[in-house]
Amino acid sequence: MYLEDNSWLLRMFIDYPYLPTPPTVIDAVLNLINLNENDVFADLGSGEGDVLIRAAEKFSCFCVGFEINRQLLLEAKSKIKRTAFNGKVDVACADLFAVDLSPFDAIYVYPFPTIAAKLSEKIQEECRKGVKVLTYDYQLLHFKPAKTAHVHSGMHAHRIYLYKT
Ligand SMILES: C[S@@+](CC[C@H](N)C(=O)[O-])C[C@H]1O[C@@H](n2cnc3c(N)ncnc32)[C@H](O)[C@@H]1O
Repeated sequence: MYLEDNSWLLRMFIDYPYLPTPPTVIDAVLNLINLNENDVFADLGSGEGDVLIRAAEKFSCFCVGFEINRQLLLEAKSKIKRTAFNGKVDVACADLFAVDLSPFDAIYVYPFPTIAAKLSEKIQEECRKGVKVLTYDYQLLHFKPAKTAHVHSGMHAHRIYLYKT
């Protein structure tokens, strides 16, 4: 699962770059789900960890992130340490396509069209039934959203989608 070389650097620019979910959107995303403290929530491509920290704060559940960019991972680790949720939130340096999705109760991903097809297949194959999958701006293929919400962040209007596997 862990990448030992610098291939992440190349892939980061080609496929799926860092673009953080704005705080208002994070709250809107988390308002679409209701998790309890025994649930495990994952952010695939977790960046600086803001979604995870907010989810732990809101639901007191275990929140794990997978991030390919080591700099962002370090930033996330340092942010997590500064919160009261250290122990409930963790991040690993991993390629999201190498992560086994079967343990998770809810998944957030801010996907780009470049990875939508491959990611949709992975979710379809690995997630248990009834898992909540949330996406921002981009939709999963092969799934019909259970809920869609509109949210404004600055001058931009966004859509968020909730899927149930
Ligand atoms: C659009 S950003 C979303 C960041 C964060 N989830 C948020 O919403 O604020 C996508 C993130 O995925 C990471 N990423 C790109 N390819 C990845 C891969 N194959 N495995 C894990 N992370 C990846 C990027 O470095 C980036 O941090």
